[in-house]
Amino acid sequence: MDVIDIIATKRDGAELSPAQIDWVLDAYNRGVVADEQMAALAMAIVWRGMSRAEVGRWTAAMLSSGDRLDFTDLDRPTTDKHSTGGVGDKITLPLTPTVAACGGAVPQLSGRGLGHTGGTLDKFESIPGWRADLSPERMRRVLTEVGGVVCAAGSGLAPADRKLYALRDVTGTVESIPLIASSIMSKKLAEGTRALVLDVKVGSGAFLPDVESARALARTMVDIGTDGGVTTVALLTAMDTPLGLQVGNALEVAEAVEVLDGGGPSDVVDLTVRLAREMLAAAGLAAAKDPAEALRDGSAMDVWRSMVAAQGGDPDAPLPEAPERSQVLAERSGVVTRVDARAVGAAAWRLGAGRARKEDPVAHSAGVTLHAKPGDTVRQGQPLLTLHAESPELIPHAATALDQAVEIDGPTEPLPLVIDRLD
Ligand code: URA
Repeated sequence: MDVIDIIATKRDGAELSPAQIDWVLDAYNRGVVADEQMAALAMAIVWRGMSRAEVGRWTAAMLSSGDRLDFTDLDRPTTDKHSTGGVGDKITLPLTPTVAACGGAVPQLSGRGLGHTGGTLDKFESIPGWRADLSPERMRRVLTEVGGVVCAAGSGLAPADRKLYALRDVTGTVESIPLIASSIMSKKLAEGTRALVLDVKVGSGAFLPDVESARALARTMVDIGTDGGVTTVALLTAMDTPLGLQVGNALEVAEAVEVLDGGGPSDVVDLTVRLAREMLAAAGLAAAKDPAEALRDGSAMDVWRSMVAAQGGDPDAPLPEAPERSQVLAERSGVVTRVDARAVGAAAWRLGAGRARKEDPVAHSAGVTLHAKPGDTVRQGQPLLTLHAESPELIPHAATALDQAVEIDGPTEPLPLVIDRLD
């Protein structure tokens, strides 16, 4: 095989053969194909795209570059969720114990956040003592005993994706539906789940802001999962406004606990229940206990407490609180018509809740609290947002990100919480 032929094939718009795909990913993983050659191929894929057969093979080749977990011997079916990421998206926290309380096993390998959206592991790590790094044996034990585990993906899973994603990040080649879909799905298939529900976010706070590109990404991922033998469903969900009222790691944990306690904001509760039902149905557990009941009767909370404790966390320990707070007040009275998710995410990030480089630490207590959501009536001078920070000098810069974030009495075109469903 000649890598230059492979690059030229894709550059000229032709389809890569399975043998070419297998070879080039294996050779790249072994260092035989150089970064600049892979970057040229990735750019050709950005422009020319990939067929369903190519993207399936590309995913399988990245998957086979590493280990694949196997939970087929568990006494209950595995089912998982992946979100493309959004502002205030803490759904994994109430969702995992809820699904486990209804009879599913959730083996979730998760990531830390980069950019304006926080990662699930960053949120869990604000719980004193909680640890993300579990050995495969420990992960299996927690999953078997508790029914849910959320931990860091080891370096052995889809290493070709890890290397390629880092290269795409610095070569302007992240924005390609086949490359994004194969990257996400190679990691999800590696974790060994039998059923998968994808939460593809749409709106200003999402990775892909428009419905059409989100739908195309969802379709590609559902096809990859289905072709790979995993029952896969996707929901397109709104991310024009932050989910819930809290954005920032410890703030979001506190909100997730409210939901597990039978309360919490209605959008977080509704999306948790909807995704849980989809995960259970995809795993053949549609007739099991209803997720809304598990939130009401405390069984989801019981699993949460065991899940946190099984990973070294203290579910009763106070969460970190930021010493510095500042409020944004309503300049006029009226009905809130927009709270822009991207602006709130950017403010939370500037307050220290997110990171710019993957090795940076995050401030667990930092973030933004919303006091009003679209549809709420506010009076002039009433607090709209509270900013939380570990040091006062972070607040002015974060506040400027929020200048145009909240609109009162503007035009409204809110997205429905669930925009579409694909299977
Ligand atoms: N997330 C991933 O894991 N991969 C991508 O390519 C984009 C987002």
